[in-house]
Amino acid sequence: MRKEFHKIAYQAHTLTKLRLYEAYIKAWLPVFMTNSGRVSEIWLFDLFCGPGCDRNGRKGSPLILLNELTKYLHLPSTKNPPKINIIFNDRKKWKINRLTKIIEQRPPLPDIVNIKLTSLPYADIFPHVAAVASKCSTACFIFIDQCGINAIGDNYLRQLASFPITDWLAFVASSSARRFIKHKNLALHLNQKGAWKDAHRTVADTCRELIANPDYFIVPFSIKHGNNIHGLLFGSSHPSGAEKFIKACWAEDKNAGEANFDIDGIIQNSSQLLKFFSKKLDAFEAELRDKIFVKEITNTKEAYEFALQFGVMASHAKAVLRKMKNEGMIANVPPLSYQTTIVRKDIKDITLIR
Ligand SMILES: C[S@@+](CC[C@H](N)C(=O)[O-])C[C@H]1O[C@@H](n2cnc3c(N)ncnc32)[C@H](O)[C@@H]1O
Repeated sequence: MRKEFHKIAYQAHTLTKLRLYEAYIKAWLPVFMTNSGRVSEIWLFDLFCGPGCDRNGRKGSPLILLNELTKYLHLPSTKNPPKINIIFNDRKKWKINRLTKIIEQRPPLPDIVNIKLTSLPYADIFPHVAAVASKCSTACFIFIDQCGINAIGDNYLRQLASFPITDWLAFVASSSARRFIKHKNLALHLNQKGAWKDAHRTVADTCRELIANPDYFIVPFSIKHGNNIHGLLFGSSHPSGAEKFIKACWAEDKNAGEANFDIDGIIQNSSQLLKFFSKKLDAFEAELRDKIFVKEITNTKEAYEFALQFGVMASHAKAVLRKMKNEGMIANVPPLSYQTTIVRKDIKDITLIR
């Protein structure tokens, strides 16, 4: 029988997941904490939170969040943050009791932070989450660290994608979705079986198809554990959210920015030297060039958004444009970033010269 998750030490694949969660929290918090005019409240939901740490006291998602939040609350730039609400939930009462004790022993947070701990099944807490997240005045981050698949089943997924200022990060047991593809109890049915190593990519494709909004960002990060390929799925309607998660993914995986293993089999041993080249970046380059040639992409905003949908960064898109300029194919390499194309709306044409 499998051991209870929190009665053993976190394993390497769990630590990868928690590192990505931490990196995203670090990037997300300052956006709304230092810009109090934009929203009236911040809500952070950790819906499968566990007791706070593993059996060795290594910090889990709740303590990662509280540590990061404490840091930002003490920064001079965080002058007037909006009200911050945190919901820690886990179906198992003993985990919530243990987490309550840990939080009580920590230095108190300022009054603007309100922490609530609940012990409800996901299906029962989700409607409360939806009531908050559907407002246009609240910025939400939802962490769905489930053990299976069902918490991002069709019905949940469509709601998550409809919330106006909500980013979410979900763990998905993608190999199980692939293995039990026809099982009627599964809330998410893959659109195809796909290759074993692509199990999590297939989950991401299925989710994109269900959401059916080409402007919505779904970013997968595959996590191999034994023979299973599970992973994290990030969702946001906002390019800045997608960019932050993609940046965290590339910090973890310098080859493809999307896995804790060699997902495209690209690490080759040539004359005793390990030679790295990125098939993902090659594929991105080929597609971006094609789209520019057929004039499907004609400006920097389109190129920037295409990069994010592909799971690569603005710098990768810029590198392709630079190559095309050097080859005499485009006239110039205009500025291409979140700041220029989205914030300043300084959108420049990409001009083909042959
Ligand atoms: C992978 S663990 C979460 C780990 C946690 N994020 C951490 O960093 O330690 C999944 C948790 O979900 C809880 N859980 C399982 N099914 C649930 C459900 N339907 N609703 C809420 N919590 C559930 C389990 O008790 C377990 O603590």
